[in-house]
Amino acid sequence: MSGSRLPGFYKLSVAERRALVAERSGVDPKVLASALDSGGIDCATADKLVENVLGTYALPFGVALNVQVNGKDRLVPMVVEEPSVIAAASNAARMVRNAGGFTAEMTEALMISQIELRGLADVELALRLLTNETEHLLTVARGAVPNLVERGGGPRSIELRPLVNGRIVVHVLVDCRDAMGANLVNSIAEAVGPVAAGITGAELGLRILSNLSDRRAVQVSCRVHPEDLVLSRPKAPLGGDSAPPSVPTGVLTGDAIADGIVAASEFAEADPYRAATHNKGIMNGIDAVVIATGNDFRAVEAGAHAFAALSGRYRPLSVWRRDGEALVGELTLPLALGIVGGTLRVHPTARLALSLVRVESADDLALIAASVGLASNLAALRALATEGIQRGHMSLHARSVAVAAGAQGAEVEIVAGRLSEDGSITLEAARRALSAMRGS
Ligand code: MEV
Repeated sequence: MSGSRLPGFYKLSVAERRALVAERSGVDPKVLASALDSGGIDCATADKLVENVLGTYALPFGVALNVQVNGKDRLVPMVVEEPSVIAAASNAARMVRNAGGFTAEMTEALMISQIELRGLADVELALRLLTNETEHLLTVARGAVPNLVERGGGPRSIELRPLVNGRIVVHVLVDCRDAMGANLVNSIAEAVGPVAAGITGAELGLRILSNLSDRRAVQVSCRVHPEDLVLSRPKAPLGGDSAPPSVPTGVLTGDAIADGIVAASEFAEADPYRAATHNKGIMNGIDAVVIATGNDFRAVEAGAHAFAALSGRYRPLSVWRRDGEALVGELTLPLALGIVGGTLRVHPTARLALSLVRVESADDLALIAASVGLASNLAALRALATEGIQRGHMSLHARSVAVAAGAQGAEVEIVAGRLSEDGSITLEAARRALSAMRGS
């Protein structure tokens, strides 16, 4: 066993899983336990974070296994309430790892600061004036974020975008280093705005970042050997490394499943109604990592869907094709994440998440989150191309019901298996199965 491969992980107790994850990640088990047991923040901290606080709200925190990105193994923290998301991503990541893992890159990492100038009688003239003052605007922008400049980041260039009705948008492109950068970019917009308006004589409009951070986009790709798509463990409905919704693929061959996944991709490419659901399956994985690491999931969602519609038509963020024998998936989306500042200042569980995944930079985190997104997408399309997703979901539901009925340790799998076999997943049925099993 090495890296992010932890066979049988799902069968362990929570305490055993924590011990194993602490060992693999090098995180002090006491730090891990305290960050997870506290539920993140207490009420007093919450009261300082937002307004009208009544309390806090906890969600399950798990890890995706088997994830390998650019040759490196990662244990990926995920916070999500939907059953099977973590298991499905882990299973798909295992298929991908058999063919070399995920390859991911971010060619540039620039946030966009927008300044809107309105009421211009001569847009061409205003564009010329602004172009001549580019260096001055950049100096003003740098002056707004001296600490960022000191850390090697800061404004890099200016772009001008004429819109209709005497309107120009000035974009300042900013390298935010390891911060998501919303505050930095907004400070720049507010500093540069009056100067740009003064240069052009325009009425000053809005000054704010753009969440369509397409200059901070990740491209991730993977290959899958068709035979790995056939994984099926009928004897353990919740079996696999991480209690996967391991969809029995019946008589379908790996080739047929790979073709089914390509057909599903083509459906999403042809139909925005399907593309929205396809992309939701991608965001299942990405959002879970984004939330675990204390990042702004609304910003990520806004950026992802705007990017999906950038061509004028809403499209899937990923596409799947055959390349010879192999199934190949590619995903591109903007992913502005941070590993410093923001929620991380106050949230020990978010800090723990970053220690577990052991990222070296914000970009590194984005590559990993995108890879988990592609894994989630693969798992969803594989299930849809075979028996549908309900069977896997029902297996996991059966497991929760078994736990609710009082099953412990190995009993959980046995009771869940019986419930699934009988097709009656109720608390009563689970209690009966448990009593029968215990001979009481
Ligand atoms: C459910 O959370 C996600 C899926 O609907 C994604 C998809 O349809 O591709 C299964």
